[in-house]
Amino acid sequence: DHDLNCLNINELEKHAYNIMDKQTRDYYNEGADSGSTLRENIEAFGKYRIRPRVLRDVSSVDTSVELFGHTNSIPMGVAPTAMQRLAHPDGELGTARACKNMKVAMGLSSFATTTLEDVADASGDNPHVLQLYLFESRDHSHKLIQRAKKAGYKAVFLTVDTPFLGRRNLEIRNQFKLPPHLKIANFTEDEEPALGDEQTSNSPNQARQRKQKAASKAGYHDGEKRVNPTGPITFHSHAPNPTLSWERDIEWLKQECCPEMEVWVKGIATGEDALLAVHHGVSGIVVSNHGGRQLNGALATLDALPEVVEAVQGKIPVHVDGGIRHGTDVFKALALGADFCWVGRPALWGLAYKGQAGVELMLRLLSDEIKLCMGLAGVTKVQDISKDYLVKLIMPAA
Ligand code: FNR
Repeated sequence: DHDLNCLNINELEKHAYNIMDKQTRDYYNEGADSGSTLRENIEAFGKYRIRPRVLRDVSSVDTSVELFGHTNSIPMGVAPTAMQRLAHPDGELGTARACKNMKVAMGLSSFATTTLEDVADASGDNPHVLQLYLFESRDHSHKLIQRAKKAGYKAVFLTVDTPFLGRRNLEIRNQFKLPPHLKIANFTEDEEPALGDEQTSNSPNQARQRKQKAASKAGYHDGEKRVNPTGPITFHSHAPNPTLSWERDIEWLKQECCPEMEVWVKGIATGEDALLAVHHGVSGIVVSNHGGRQLNGALATLDALPEVVEAVQGKIPVHVDGGIRHGTDVFKALALGADFCWVGRPALWGLAYKGQAGVELMLRLLSDEIKLCMGLAGVTKVQDISKDYLVKLIMPAA
């Protein structure tokens, strides 16, 4: 029961490339600036080779792991990515159903095009987490968190690598915006009325409002002063928040979420911040650089992983995302000490290819590859994957 047109994630990427319109393709696929971190996330896996062990009776290989009190069929889930209905009308519901069928955890973006309640319904008792951009207006965030609790989300993953939006040049050139038939679904009732006629209004107050609106649209500073974003909640205006800090915001968030939901931080890339995360009592860490979409020139996530694992000393789980395209990539990340991996773009490519069925295909391909890799490496349980199975190649200086 293979899809003979699509036997691995690279083939899936090619199909999706040809199906998606240019605006969507550019938005999904690009990295920040030159895209070097995006490329290195993928290439980092090539620095390691697996040391397979033999004659160990691998007739039964168990790829499952426990996550949020549930059995996840593989040590991998689908990372939160914004606006999935751009890829296919199935959107986030397709992803949720595919994840449920494959027993794989799903992360839902704050900037989903489907409500978190509908995704929770589609997920049933399959674990789902809400990715959170903590807004400067606590009110919006408070409401969202309460809704997530009520809908049965297991955790919030606070994204901490986005004080400003990374510079994505194609997104800027294409003047990327959501087509009118789609909505940022979780904030629609929150939208404030428009700020009046921008062309004709000239009072100082309206001029200030115009300026604020322009600044909040761009998600940037207004000269010296930070402008608190106003107006409708959009990705460009509200996702970036440069005011966040460990002391104030993590403590606030833990109180908001307690006791129903765990608080994780997504976007840790150093041992120092991993120590702070443990110190501030978060439940877990996702080593991530936002798929190379934020700070270009940052370390590939696989290269940042060992220092985070070393700092955390097993006190809390360490997950990783970025550049995972093969079962062997998952194996390598786990061998370097990750407890779990997440994939972002492959799910979007699956959606673009065949909606829910395409996400299921993506998960099946990676699931088969993980199992095969474990068997060929001589490992029958995920907990047994260790650094003994890995060797780092000595590379000539670039
Ligand atoms: C993302 N990612 C992301 N992360 C987040 O915390 N909130 C979000 O809304 C989004 N949105 C988003 C959109 C798109 C189009 C992409 C590609 C990524 C980052 C995502 O969760 C994850 O960190 C990366 O996608 C992992 O890298 P790979 O697997 O795409 O290489």
